[in-house]
Amino acid sequence: MSGLMITFEGGDGSGKSTQIALLAGRLRSLGHEVRTYREPGGVAPGDPGERIRDILLDPVHVELGVRAELLLYEASRAQLVAAHYRPALEAGAIVLCDRYADSSVAYQGYGRAVLSVEEVHELNRIATGGLVPDLTLLLDVDPAAGLAQAALAGMDRLEAAGLDFHERVRVGYLRIAEAEPGRVKVVPRSSEASVAEVVWRHVEPLLARLTP
Ligand code: TYD
Repeated sequence: MSGLMITFEGGDGSGKSTQIALLAGRLRSLGHEVRTYREPGGVAPGDPGERIRDILLDPVHVELGVRAELLLYEASRAQLVAAHYRPALEAGAIVLCDRYADSSVAYQGYGRAVLSVEEVHELNRIATGGLVPDLTLLLDVDPAAGLAQAALAGMDRLEAAGLDFHERVRVGYLRIAEAEPGRVKVVPRSSEASVAEVVWRHVEPLLARLTP
């Protein structure tokens, strides 16, 4: 594939969406074709991915089991990979994702602590057909601070899962980064502008890989 796939990961309230917007703007100003996505979700209101997102984030669904939860995240992911990420990458675009497979490992694997991490990896492989990002930026944030930030917009089902859960998610993410240091770069919390600069230092060298 000729494009570039960059994923953003991190706890709730870690500032991923702001950083994605800044990076997309910077890349577009250099003339790059950029597509942005967020998981779980789709690309238009009411499409299957957005309906799955509504189920997953609605705090009324307290009865949703861990396996069902994981499979719903994977269903949303599978659809995005097949219908959007692969075609965009084949067309040579830069694909920026607000969350991808590592979120399931961190949240449903380490966070829920019911399924093994290997089981989550297996479902990720099935959903993505083995599509691995070129770069993953892990915006590391203390869960208490992140949740306080996220709560400003009202708590969704995952944010309401408690501080212990979010502490495990953070540990999970750091383990993922340790296991794959080539792909996953940890970006410590800092001002918006300095995080953006660290992000850029990781992204810029990859632009040479794009085939014109
Ligand atoms: P969202 O409002 O997009 O949160 P954020 O802005 O923090 O990314 O909600 C997505 C929530 O779903 C978030 O709490 C993380 C969670 N999630 C998982 O638990 N597993 C997954 O595979 C994905 C993609 C997200």
